[in-house]
Amino acid sequence: MKVTLAKADAVTAKADLLAVPVFAGPELGPGAEEAVAALGAPVAPLLEGRGFTGKTGETAVLPTLGRLPATVLLLVGVGERAKVDAEALRRAAAAVVRQGRGARKAVTTLPQALPADPAGAVRAVTEGALLAAYRFDKYKKARADGAKPAAELAALAMVAPGAKGRGSGGRAGLAGALAAGQARAAATNLARDLSNEPANALHPADLAAAARKLLAGKGVTVKVKDEKELAKEGFGGIIGVGQGAEHPPRLIELRYRPALSRSRGAAGEVALIGKGITFDSGGLSLKPADSMKTMKTDMSGAAAVLAAMSVLAELDVKVGVTGYLASAENMPSGRATRPGDVLTMKNGRTVEVLNTDAEGRLVMADALALGAEAKPDAIIDVATLTGACAVALGNRYTGLMANDDALAAELLDAAADAGEPTWRLPLPPEYHKEIESDLADLKNVGDRYGGALVAGLFLQEFVDGRPWVHLDIAGPARAESEDGYLGKGSTGVSVRTLLSWLERRGAAG
Ligand code: BES
Ligand code: MN
Ligand code: ZN
Repeated sequence: MKVTLAKADAVTAKADLLAVPVFAGPELGPGAEEAVAALGAPVAPLLEGRGFTGKTGETAVLPTLGRLPATVLLLVGVGERAKVDAEALRRAAAAVVRQGRGARKAVTTLPQALPADPAGAVRAVTEGALLAAYRFDKYKKARADGAKPAAELAALAMVAPGAKGRGSGGRAGLAGALAAGQARAAATNLARDLSNEPANALHPADLAAAARKLLAGKGVTVKVKDEKELAKEGFGGIIGVGQGAEHPPRLIELRYRPALSRSRGAAGEVALIGKGITFDSGGLSLKPADSMKTMKTDMSGAAAVLAAMSVLAELDVKVGVTGYLASAENMPSGRATRPGDVLTMKNGRTVEVLNTDAEGRLVMADALALGAEAKPDAIIDVATLTGACAVALGNRYTGLMANDDALAAELLDAAADAGEPTWRLPLPPEYHKEIESDLADLKNVGDRYGGALVAGLFLQEFVDGRPWVHLDIAGPARAESEDGYLGKGSTGVSVRTLLSWLERRGAAG
């Protein structure tokens, strides 16, 4: 599906489907009044009969019977008029896409439901539509599964009166917002593709090859350390986790530098670290069969970093970004790390491995230590790190831990902008004893209680005091059912939070 901008007025728009917003009440929104008037029949009794109240994402399909150029009029709830925000528009746009399956062209006046921020509205509608249109069906050879999303969704956006140029409600501003929405959705969908890919088709070396292929021409250089280099250079965590597998580990380094000719200069340097366990069997501390079923998505953090970096140039991000994808397959074998083994990490710390299923913190520790060596202004890591975080926050909320309140606030703001629910958890010094080992500097597991925090405390040992935020996405990396603009499967969570943060940081610098 592609999203386009159009200025035609709603009633005369030629399309299979015309989607117009309805506020809570229900109260007809922009374009809806005209469209309903053209139908020449009252709709209030009909809506009442169907229990349609204008709640966000609610829909009512009305045939136009030749009274409008569009075949079908779709009323879409956007919630209370005064509370319409980007998230409401993303969800409403997703409802349009779902109802518009099989159509060739759909048009919508949804952006006009948020007149205070025309550009933000266009970005949100574009994002919501393209995220909702996503499918992962490359392995369905036998049958096409249901109708395809509309080939085109034309967003009928109001140009703000008197607004001119970029960054406003003027034409150029709206075109920029459309482009930004497209880039953000494409990056999110790329992360979903990588993460949905089965583990037998995406080993660590394949992730490295995908990075090279997907980032070519995107202003990002890719450097890959193979298992020999990793061993020689002291990445004991990544080697220790990966050594049980037939398919060896990789550390993938991605480098983006803003083009100085296009900008005022780089607004600092940041590091993004992603957990890239292409399959987590638990290793010798083997997981039960049911817990393993979704463990191909244990590289969702790495996928998010890779995907976000694929659109930095397109979004003209002004911050220098280095990405580190710590990738390994966690498998049991005669060569696998045993419970009780001691590993020496990249920063020289020794770790007693008491549970080989707490592997994420081991690969992340090495990547964090390497990232910290460059002394970046900020380090953000993204990892499907602990089941405990999903127990605490459920499967929609990202857990955020940080050693720096200002940076934590920046990420929470960015997450709110992206519509990715995120909640800060503490890093209590009292719990540090959980990871103190009798034998080595640290052990990799502590008490089951507060497991997300203990994992966060472990990672903190490797950031060398740099400002750091840890995002535990074990819950929201996957959706178990369709929800708003997220389908079942990998969600690409964190991509848009990272992009919002980088854009804002670049603008402030
Ligand atoms: N990849 C898992 C965490 C996870 C669990 C992600 C469920 C998504 C859904 C991680 O490597 C893991 O196994 N963590 C263990 C840690 C424990 C052994 C301390 C866990 O959460 O049980
Ligand atoms: Mn594990
Ligand atoms: Zn894992």
